[in-house]
Amino acid sequence: MAQPENEKTENTAAAKGRVLSGMRPTGRLHLGNYVGALQNWVGLQNQYECFFFVADWHALTTDYADPSAVKTNSIEVATDWLAAGLDPERSVLFVQSHVPQHAELHLLFSMITPLGWLERVPSYKEQQVQLAEKSLGTYGFLGYPLLQAADILMYLADFVPVGQDQVAHVELTREVARRFNQFYKLDGREVLPEPQVLLTPSPQLPGTDGRKMSKSYGNTILLTDPEPEVRQKLKTMVTDPARIRRTDPGDPDKCPVGDLHKVFSTPETLANVYEGCRTAGIGCIQCKGWAADALVQVLAPIQERRSRFSDAQVKEILEDGTNRARTRAEQTMVEVRAAMHLTSKD
Ligand code: TRP
Ligand code: SF4
Repeated sequence: MAQPENEKTENTAAAKGRVLSGMRPTGRLHLGNYVGALQNWVGLQNQYECFFFVADWHALTTDYADPSAVKTNSIEVATDWLAAGLDPERSVLFVQSHVPQHAELHLLFSMITPLGWLERVPSYKEQQVQLAEKSLGTYGFLGYPLLQAADILMYLADFVPVGQDQVAHVELTREVARRFNQFYKLDGREVLPEPQVLLTPSPQLPGTDGRKMSKSYGNTILLTDPEPEVRQKLKTMVTDPARIRRTDPGDPDKCPVGDLHKVFSTPETLANVYEGCRTAGIGCIQCKGWAADALVQVLAPIQERRSRFSDAQVKEILEDGTNRARTRAEQTMVEVRAAMHLTSKD
């Protein structure tokens, strides 16, 4: 039987497997978020059936004392996704807390997960030290990677695109799936497939102060920054400390501005940067101007696309995506509940 065109494309994507990833609602996204995750997600839409969600419950694991920004931040993040090119026709875009099945699966997983597995996740101790002011000795924070396992296994994801810092969480997810499948089967078959990490090749993007670009350092360039602001931020950016005077040669490999060129500039510009910097043929002001040119070129289409979405439209897109996610999630839960003898399947 002939299939309508859109169903065919959906099936091709499904044949290559399903991708799921999430992002915490940290507010407007910056260039580091873009090259470290979002740009990669946009490309994955061409090959896979994709589910991307705003991990608002995950935000509560650290920001429980003041959750007042979570809802607006969720909209901001989703708007940046659309601006960057995530396409609600091809990807399911949704909000975690609006799919309560995630909480149910998290609870069921909590029954079978040894405490030691969670205590051993490296981010658990690290973050407690780094965010000491937030009192992360909570039950929710310890369970955070298990909630992530529920997020992933709910959609029977084949691939989880994440950065290096999240690999341990996907590894835990695989262990939870194995344990679940050992205990419970449905008509003799396993219910939860083990997902694989799709490691995001991400260049470490420096912020204006030379440290990793991060909201908590206040050194970011936002996807929404207008051109004058981008140029102004570049002007204040730190450079190779060896270039004190205009006549001192420098080394782009020791300069955060050089790192930006490596990610965003054309090979020709990059060659001019190396040559000009090492011979003191160009000054840092000129070099920063070139870097700003490259950034503005990357940001222009993103900002143009963003201007086409109103808040109301973004909310509608998320609502539609959430409905699709919930349907998919409920299918999994029907099997999970039946496998655990909580209900029968039909
Ligand atoms: N923990 C991830 C982060 O902090 C966000 C996240 C939550 C996630 N659930 C997920 C990522 C599921 C991938 C899959 O970045
Ligand atoms: Fe950095 Fe460019 Fe100055 Fe060299 S010329 S130190 S790469 S800003």
